Amino acid sequence: MPAFSARAPGKIIFFGEHAVVYGRPAIAVPVEQVQARAVVIPDPIAPRGRVWIQAPDINLDCALGELPEDNALRQLIQLLQAHFKIDHLPACTLRVSSSIPVAAGLGSGAAISVACLRALSAFLGAPLVVEHVSALAYEIEKIYHGTPSGIDNTVVAYAQPVYFVHGQPIEFLSIRQPLTLVIGDTGRSSPTSGPVGALRQAWLENSQPYEALFDRAGEIARSARADLEAGTISHLGRLMDENHALLVQMGVSSPELDHLVSAARVAGASGAKLSGGGWGGNMIALVEPELAEQVSTALLESGASHTLITQVRP
Ligand code: MEV
Repeated sequence: MPAFSARAPGKIIFFGEHAVVYGRPAIAVPVEQVQARAVVIPDPIAPRGRVWIQAPDINLDCALGELPEDNALRQLIQLLQAHFKIDHLPACTLRVSSSIPVAAGLGSGAAISVACLRALSAFLGAPLVVEHVSALAYEIEKIYHGTPSGIDNTVVAYAQPVYFVHGQPIEFLSIRQPLTLVIGDTGRSSPTSGPVGALRQAWLENSQPYEALFDRAGEIARSARADLEAGTISHLGRLMDENHALLVQMGVSSPELDHLVSAARVAGASGAKLSGGGWGGNMIALVEPELAEQVSTALLESGASHTLITQVRP
């Protein structure tokens, strides 16, 4: 019997994280160098409902029923069964692996959900269309991140640069000129729910200053979109710097992120900012292609646990 496999890329938020949770626009792009992969191997002998889960990256090798009720894969399979109105999956092994660092702002959770939903629905003989993949992955995001905007599951499911506003039709960005980004990992994992929850608490206590920060972040995302679509990218670095300053004021940066952001600028990046939830995880720097290695080395020397050079292509 054939196996059913699917992949999904990582992502970075180029502009507008956090403000996007409050209805402002944001820009995200897929990162194809890191991927989540799911493989479903049908078991023609075992009875229906006997699903075995293997996730060697996290030393998981057990029956689905042995996972805690709130485990993400268990929730995902329940959601998929409800979607297809079935009580059990046919017997199979679901093998999940990922090269996307976990809790690092690179969309690892969304990518695992998307890859699993695709592989499992193909196994069921009814491959989900991308809208449904994204919508179901969003349901999983809600369980784990509290109040997600939906940007992570969208960019990962569609695997295209998106200009995203919560609740509005997805707009894809046509980027005119290739861009080189260096991604630097603080090495500190930070689940998105931490900074998202703390910011919500602060906003509930005193919304006005945060609304002003979100408004400005939204304006930055709008300008960045215009620049990306026109191919006039000379202001993008400055916009990233300003976006980072706003994220600092929102309380979602960290000393490690600020340190890497400054190191990238000193090493010649046109601009730099944290990317994703913050408090840890990754930052991104926009660079001229010939400076990419230099900026990457500077980040490693400044404490980054690893770096990745990626191109955003038209
Ligand atoms: C996380 O990648 C982006 C955040 O804006 C959260 C969200 O939009 O759901 C921090």
